[in-house]
Amino acid sequence: MELHVREMKEEDIPVVYEINRRSFTTDAWSRESLEREFRLPYSLRFVLEMEGRVVGYSILWLIKEEAFLMTFAIDPSYRNKGLGKYLLSEIINLLSGKATTLQLDVRKSNLPAINLYRSMGFEIVRERPKFYSDGETALLMELKLV
Ligand SMILES: CC(C)(COP(=O)(O)OP(=O)(O)OC[C@H]1O[C@@H](n2cnc3c(N)ncnc32)[C@H](O)[C@@H]1OP(=O)(O)O)[C@@H](O)C(=O)NCCC(=O)NCCS
Repeated sequence: MELHVREMKEEDIPVVYEINRRSFTTDAWSRESLEREFRLPYSLRFVLEMEGRVVGYSILWLIKEEAFLMTFAIDPSYRNKGLGKYLLSEIINLLSGKATTLQLDVRKSNLPAINLYRSMGFEIVRERPKFYSDGETALLMELKLV
């Protein structure tokens, strides 16, 4: 299985948009918001390719040595194969020397993601009640990188 993490290009937007749309029922990103990321100097964007096909992506913001995972998903047809863990661990390697913490918000009900983050050493910093538009609580999680 050939896996490769590379920077997202603007031409990846259609496939990234589609993975995002199929992964998030209420908080999916618009094409415009994906396009906007390419103009933000603090935005880092990656895709995961498996045998040449984009099967996952992630977008982070890196501001003054603090990284924040803005969105991250694996194509639903390719889940539970270790790909999410692989992409996240590659990102953590890429952040080495650049960031001291990696934080993210996750829905309190999103057990697959919470389990993945916990398995990689993330800890819950606090709850953010009514964080999402449907009223669900977010967990703010953090991984210390140094
Ligand atoms: C979260 C997500 C990225 C995980 O990707 P994945 O490739 O399926 O995950 P992996 O196969 O690498 O699994 C790694 C670990 O995550 C956890 N996990 C993954 N899927 C799980 C599930 N359905 N139920 C419980 N735990 C799960 C497990 O701890 C797993 O480790 P294990 O296989 O040793 O038990 C994927 O489910 C996804 O894209 N979800 C929708 C988008 C999303 O929620 N993104 C995160 C928003 S904060």
